[in-house]
Amino acid sequence: MPLRTRDLEEISAHTLAHYDQRAEDFREGTRHHDVRQNIDALLRHIRGQPPFTILDFGCGPGRDLQTFARLGHLACGLDGAESFVDMARTTSGCPVWQQDFLRLDLPPGHFDGVFANASLFHVPTQELSRVLGQLHATLKPDGVLFSSNPRGNNEEGWSDGRYAVYHDLANWRQLLSAAAFAELEHYYRPPGLPRAQQPWLASVWRRIGEHRDTREDRSTHPTVHPHPLSDHGK
Ligand SMILES: C[S@@+](CC[C@H](N)C(=O)[O-])C[C@H]1O[C@@H](n2cnc3c(N)ncnc32)[C@H](O)[C@@H]1O
Repeated sequence: MPLRTRDLEEISAHTLAHYDQRAEDFREGTRHHDVRQNIDALLRHIRGQPPFTILDFGCGPGRDLQTFARLGHLACGLDGAESFVDMARTTSGCPVWQQDFLRLDLPPGHFDGVFANASLFHVPTQELSRVLGQLHATLKPDGVLFSSNPRGNNEEGWSDGRYAVYHDLANWRQLLSAAAFAELEHYYRPPGLPRAQQPWLASVWRRIGEHRDTREDRSTHPTVHPHPLSDHGK
């Protein structure tokens, strides 16, 4: 059954409320997560001379915004959870936009890179083509999108109070290439562990061509299964 407007509003509202209610704990629990591998993966594919304009999409409390700013880049955060927006602004000194992933308002052709660390898996599959199109449009013509998501077998639904989708590599590739992104690389995290102990799939993509909204092409809808969600190692 397709998700209706009211379902989508509930998905955003409940997921954001979940994060808002635990904002302090989330910040403490993720403050020391080492995601430098992901930051480097984004930066090494951006063409041209730094500093780069970077959108941290779903920036949370601002840990990675601080890193981008420390490296001299022009970073901007985006998150829907008010507590995270406040934290991220205060700790990074960067601009942070409070926006819902499902109601984005982004400047066209503005960013060299979009860093979506553990955020795009909160977008329902039904809406992903549209959201990827908006990220495509906010990137400069050969801009780069980084994404890291907890992987699975394309299960989708509520998971511990948050709406989540657990794409596998094949499905993720299909969605991104349909949205006019070309794959640059992918890897699993945390590094150095057997694949079974690497729940995160990281991938890097270059904006190519024009985006086409493929929602009409999708005849099947994913099944809904709960999936344990961990923030570690992302
Ligand atoms: C797992 S956290 C990742 C935070 C940060 N990128 C990190 O790596 O620690 C997911 C983030 O997505 C944000 N988020 C989830 N659903 C959202 C929505 N519908 N609109 C805007 N932000 C959303 C949450 O507020 C949260 O900051």
